[in-house]
Amino acid sequence: MTTRSLTLFEAHVTPLIGGFGRTSTVMELLRTRGVATVEGLDTRAKVLAFAQQMMTLVPHPDSDPDALTTIRDRGAASRRPGLAGLGTGELLAHTERSSLPRPPRLMLLVCQQPAASGGDVLLTDGRALHALLLERAPRALEMMALPDTAFYGDGGGHLSQIFTRHRGERVSIRLRQDALAAFSPLLTPHLQHLRTAIEALQQRVTLDAGQGYLIDNSRWLHARTGFCGDRVCLRALGDPRTPIPPGFPSQIHWSAP
Ligand SMILES: [Fe+2]
Repeated sequence: MTTRSLTLFEAHVTPLIGGFGRTSTVMELLRTRGVATVEGLDTRAKVLAFAQQMMTLVPHPDSDPDALTTIRDRGAASRRPGLAGLGTGELLAHTERSSLPRPPRLMLLVCQQPAASGGDVLLTDGRALHALLLERAPRALEMMALPDTAFYGDGGGHLSQIFTRHRGERVSIRLRQDALAAFSPLLTPHLQHLRTAIEALQQRVTLDAGQGYLIDNSRWLHARTGFCGDRVCLRALGDPRTPIPPGFPSQIHWSAP
């Protein structure tokens, strides 16, 4: 008999039968794992209803009047810095809206129409990333937590660091790797450790129509492979209706010398 481990999608899916009655299950997954997957959201109205149940929606400059953003290839517009998500190219692992002082805590992405090929989602758990760096490259990890060593800019921009330490021994992650990211020379020599660790950890999710994922944006990074065809996804950003502590529990006692 062969055994197969569950995919990330299968391991975190909550059936949304009967009017989305499983809000508490989804919230529990978000609180403990930082991710939940959903299916059956095959219309814009269903996506919006689910999003409103989970979060207070925050509009995005590219969102429609209902605060959902339609993510599809918009051609030339996607070639402007920071707008690559609206093209067909690969997107490296990032935090959504990393250049805001307070990025939205939750991001929901639901597929309405898969690409003809490609367009897979790649998710990286910041908690696992932090643990792997602690094991393999502790010096690099220390540099990634140095205050004010990363600048993420579109519009005003935000001076930050890749890993932020919070009270209660929690850590959050904030990253972008496109042309709008600038890193301190102190940090630059260590970034290859980060990229290698992300590649080792990221999990591929192939979404069919109606399937999606909801992540805590202070814990999970998301990425996308390039694609061909008319891929259509809907995205909601916002803050959870029930507060959850930031990021993930640290594997390090910060107070130690
Ligand atoms: Fe994104």
